[in-house]
Amino acid sequence: MSAGLRTIVWALLLGLAMLWWLSRPLPLAPDSLPGHVVDLANGERIFHAGGCASCHSEPGKDQAGDDRLPGGLELTTPYGVFRVPNISPDLRSGIGNWSDLDFVNAMMRGVAPDGRHYYPSFPYTSYARMSMADVLDLRAFLATLEPVSTPSRNHELKFPYGFRRALGLWKRLFLVDTPARPVDESDMLLVRGRYLVEGPGHCGECHTPRNGLGALRLDAWLSGARSLEGEGKVPDITPTGLADWPEGDIAYYLESGIDPEFDVVGGSMVKVQENMARLSAEDREAIAAYLKYQVSD
Ligand code: HEC
Ligand code: HEC
Repeated sequence: MSAGLRTIVWALLLGLAMLWWLSRPLPLAPDSLPGHVVDLANGERIFHAGGCASCHSEPGKDQAGDDRLPGGLELTTPYGVFRVPNISPDLRSGIGNWSDLDFVNAMMRGVAPDGRHYYPSFPYTSYARMSMADVLDLRAFLATLEPVSTPSRNHELKFPYGFRRALGLWKRLFLVDTPARPVDESDMLLVRGRYLVEGPGHCGECHTPRNGLGALRLDAWLSGARSLEGEGKVPDITPTGLADWPEGDIAYYLESGIDPEFDVVGGSMVKVQENMARLSAEDREAIAAYLKYQVSD
């Protein structure tokens, strides 16, 4: 090998090693879990706010009142078909044998117990903004549900999306746990609303447009987007998009599914609304207040 060629080969190997290192999983340190007294009622509230049943309950079944989470729903996207896994407490097919730390790493870091990266079709990109206490309460609530033995099935993704390790680079660029939009931090209603919308509620995952790499555009937060699953548009829910919606109408829509023109909620918002209906009136008011909050610059 000539000296020049040898240099090129070394540079390539070094580059690959660097990419490998940069794409490594970044789980939390084992001692980073706080001491925590579980609040199961809060865990249930977060379960509904987070819409877990919308994706993880049995496809075609009414998610309402469903305490079985066998997975199986197929999400058809431009990247291929994702198959939602079993997250029931079953020891073999579900997550029954996971530690709390495993669960927190999945929800907040997008990392599996064996170190694999999760695809952001699991909206951990929003759940990363949740509080550790809420995630631990959610975990405790999930453990009270019925174990289901249905095995999880593999995704069917187009080339090159099957290569999970590359998600490590994507996450370095796009996984953020800081708020997407500033609010008046002294207003507890706004702070709560922002938390519910940007964190567990993962509203931005549908209502915010994505860039060429499939990441949410923080500069166009909640301003409406193409539906990832193909069917039409998801509306603008910034103060501009909701100009004709007083806060009370937004809260009423989330509670009842009826909009200011007396139309009934449709499409992928139906399941979200069913979940919102199970939150407290104060939480729905908080969400409405955040959505109507005009950021002054
Ligand atoms: C938009 C659909 C969607 C929603 C909503 C959703 N998930 Fe998932 N979830 C997925 C998909 C898809 C995967 C698989 C990701 C992968 O394989 O990389 C997944 C994976 C998981 C995993 C990892 C399971 C395993 O076997 O490794 C856990 C744990 C999980 N979700 C918990 C939750 C919880 C708790 C909620 C509610 C707060 C939730 N998910 C909401 C789609 C969703
Ligand atoms: C799975 C995708 C998805 C998620 C997640 C989602 N939405 Fe929606 N949303 C939609 C779609 C689609 C519509 C249009 C519904 C229709 O056509 O009836 C909609 C409509 C709305 C509307 C009515 C706007 C209008 O002009 O008609 C509001 C308000 C709203 N969503 C708020 C929220 C909030 C708050 C959250 C988070 C808690 C949320 N959405 C999460 C898909 C979603």
